[in-house]
Amino acid sequence: MSEVETLTGDELASKLKNNVDFQRRGGIKGEGLRLSPEDLAWWRDARFGMFIHWGLYAIPADGEWYLHFSGISKEEYAKYAEQFRPRKFDARAWVRAAQDAGMRYMVLTARHHDGFALWDSPASYGNYCSTRTAARRDFVAEYTQACHEAGMRAGLYYSPMDWRFPGYFKPDEFPENAQLMKRQCHGQVEELTTKYGTIDILWYDGAWLAHKGTDADAAWLWEPVKLNEMARRHQPKIVISPRSGWEGDFGTDEGGHRAAGPIIDWPWEKCLNLNRPSWGFNREQDLMTRDEVILMLVNVVNRGGNVLLNVGPDADGEIPPAHVERLREVGAWMERYGKSIYGTRAGPFEPVEDRYGSTCRARSVYVHVLPGEDRETLPLPALERKILACRQLGGAALGFEQSASSVSIRLPAGGREAPVTVLELELDRPVGRA
Ligand code: GLC
Repeated sequence: MSEVETLTGDELASKLKNNVDFQRRGGIKGEGLRLSPEDLAWWRDARFGMFIHWGLYAIPADGEWYLHFSGISKEEYAKYAEQFRPRKFDARAWVRAAQDAGMRYMVLTARHHDGFALWDSPASYGNYCSTRTAARRDFVAEYTQACHEAGMRAGLYYSPMDWRFPGYFKPDEFPENAQLMKRQCHGQVEELTTKYGTIDILWYDGAWLAHKGTDADAAWLWEPVKLNEMARRHQPKIVISPRSGWEGDFGTDEGGHRAAGPIIDWPWEKCLNLNRPSWGFNREQDLMTRDEVILMLVNVVNRGGNVLLNVGPDADGEIPPAHVERLREVGAWMERYGKSIYGTRAGPFEPVEDRYGSTCRARSVYVHVLPGEDRETLPLPALERKILACRQLGGAALGFEQSASSVSIRLPAGGREAPVTVLELELDRPVGRA
């Protein structure tokens, strides 16, 4: 942190408490495969995206791991493909829900671990895809088209692993079957990156084998560098997640645990569920509140990350209305305070858990004052920039003092806003953080 003096006390304690848990770090490298910071800038600026887990598992309504955990046979499960006729599927409605939430990119599970593909997939083992079963529709085509029409960045999730293959669970015992699964993976990624125009994000999940070890441990099978060189040939600027065994363009932190600790200097994304019980549709409902979503977003962005918030449409293809409504509430907040989120980078102040965190863009610094901060005056570390003005974002000017060793800001007398009070500081020169 070049801008801020050495930390002490609460600042230091908070900085040391890092609980961002990166999935599968240490993926293998690939010469020249990573995007340049310039090509990744749109993704970092976007900050907030919609994850969509949707597939046959929406029918039993017990989460996307249903095939694995319920004890159902593969054959029984495959029968869902003959019942999967989502009458309310409307990709435009999904895109609208994301836009209303203030989200700037989307990622749809084109194919999850169960193996069922939501597009016309000749490479699918056993033609296990939505155009050749009851639905007779190419959902990926409809989704990407709706994204393109709306100017929404379109991402696709793809799981290399496929539970239908014994070679996934026992690659040594069934080496040819494992190779078959790998061929399916390369073939399907080629389809997804060639048939649907621009794809902005390729979100791999699960290249580990038999649910053990790391994705990188399984690179001998998948050849992720070759796989992603192919994806880059077709989509040179596609942003790629780290879960193919190759290190990827960003780090992922999975799950609803809160983001604590210091600013993280490389691009990262937290993915989590709006409905806590599972990623795929679940008859059990336990939604995050509006304030929980906003606090999560602020805490992640203040540490340099993006948030990919998941919804699970039901078997009819509808995102449950209560979820859409919750997203709209978040969107209303983003409409007012998105200026402190979009196009920002974390800092210059290191976040202090439960008290505050900050973001910046050019000569503006935004301070998110959190519910645990109950003092009238907010003390901040020194800043090597002169503060010209300070106000509540969208509100009144606030008094402040700045010395060589500290800054203090008089918080709004009229009380705080729930869940975050947003301050805007105008500086004499841009903050230097990349
Ligand atoms: C895990 C799960 C999966 C979910 C994903 C989301 O890897 O296997 O069900 O899709 O996390 O990040």
